[in-house]
Amino acid sequence: MKSLWACKSIEVLRSQAEEQPRGLKRSLSAWDLVALGIGCIIGAGIFVLSGHAAATTAGPAVVLSFLAGAFVCAFAGLCYTEMASAVPVAGSAYTYAYATMGQFVAWMIGWDLVLEYGLAATTVAIGWSGYMVSFLKSFGVVIPAAWTQGPVAFDAATSQWQSTGALFNLPAMLILLVVTALLATGTRESVRVNAVIVAVKLTVVIAFIAFGIGSVDHANWVTAGNPTGAFIPPADAQGNFGWPGVLTGAGVVFFAYIGFDAVSCAAQEAKNPQRDMVRGIMGSLAICSVLYGLVAYVLTGVVAYDKLNVPDPIAVGVDALQLFWLAPIIKLGAIAGLTTVLLVLVLAQTRIFYSMSRDGLLPGIFSEIHPKQRTPFKSTLLTGGVIALLAGVLPMGLVVELVSIGTLAAFVVVCIGVLVLRKTRPDMPRPFRTPAVNFVAPVGALAAFALMAGLPADTWIRLLIWLLIGVVIYFGYGRRHANAAELTKP
Ligand code: ALA
Repeated sequence: MKSLWACKSIEVLRSQAEEQPRGLKRSLSAWDLVALGIGCIIGAGIFVLSGHAAATTAGPAVVLSFLAGAFVCAFAGLCYTEMASAVPVAGSAYTYAYATMGQFVAWMIGWDLVLEYGLAATTVAIGWSGYMVSFLKSFGVVIPAAWTQGPVAFDAATSQWQSTGALFNLPAMLILLVVTALLATGTRESVRVNAVIVAVKLTVVIAFIAFGIGSVDHANWVTAGNPTGAFIPPADAQGNFGWPGVLTGAGVVFFAYIGFDAVSCAAQEAKNPQRDMVRGIMGSLAICSVLYGLVAYVLTGVVAYDKLNVPDPIAVGVDALQLFWLAPIIKLGAIAGLTTVLLVLVLAQTRIFYSMSRDGLLPGIFSEIHPKQRTPFKSTLLTGGVIALLAGVLPMGLVVELVSIGTLAAFVVVCIGVLVLRKTRPDMPRPFRTPAVNFVAPVGALAAFALMAGLPADTWIRLLIWLLIGVVIYFGYGRRHANAAELTKP
């Protein structure tokens, strides 16, 4: 079947799901899944972007931006859960789209997911670097500025590129190379290690809230742009702040929630997916949403938001609290937490490439498995190497919004995909069914689209350019090489 809209049959996907998990056991409990979600969710979004969004678009109302992000993710999360239980194969939104909307849409979503995982890893590595540099500095170890950021910075307010005078971001590149090497040699993040790091992350985040909440002073809301100290600062001439700024901020901090879809990838390993996937996805989202709202409130309550556009805003918050003993602990917690996020993001990217390559849409090298290590060895080195290069030269602000818009686009497709599959395969067994699907799925798709709409025009232009490159590759390569035998009529 050569149609652009041909779908991959659910039966083929299911048989692939059965042959794939060699050695995997149904061993994950609900708590393991929640820990997996938190392990992947809490990272640069809260440790870095909270400050960026508060300073540039939302002010103290970044709290509302976080809540809006949580709302969108909750709806999309319910749809992901149904898909993960009905089509339990690696590949996430790419696979779901192939089962429901055909090859072309699937390719475009797979290509779009590079923004979610590959570019997100770039961003998290830049955040990791910021915290590492700051952590080392607190012990008197100073990495020269020329080695701590890329050669150019992007000023979102003026859409101008500026030279930073730096060479490249060495720590960001190094951590990615370490993570890549670990993944390539087959080191797998065990559930226990993840749980330990999650405990460290949670302790750090809760410590910040606990020590900071008593020092929140609304006088800190007063800035040059917000003389009355309003919770939602007045909109400025560039369209930042005010309610539009809250929406734009939501599109930015939405990044903080990325990763709950990694829980859906563990569907095959859950002891009781019907009951526990929803707990894993929605439980981790709920815990992170509450923590994010509180951190954002404390952060903007102890430091004026216009001082928060820094690589390590939580550390700046701790310094403002004069808790100098706590600062290195917070930084260390952030560094540990960001490392797991990085690991899971690069892992997810290689697994999505794996699925696309198995389907013939990408060259075979991406699905070659090392006979001993049993990992997509070459693909991991290639993918990790390219991500490391990008992290070395790209500025933080430029990439973040592109990651968010790419992920939101995948959410739109997954929400629509659930509805399509309900129509085309109504009787298919679904261990989990999205409640009130005719409401949740369309509202989830619309809310994700609304967040996309709040992102700046140049982010849209970059997304469209990225997708156009995808169209060219699809017609130049994927369409001709796709495994047509596995496909069914749309
Ligand atoms: N949600 C993850 C983070 O914030 C990607 O780092």
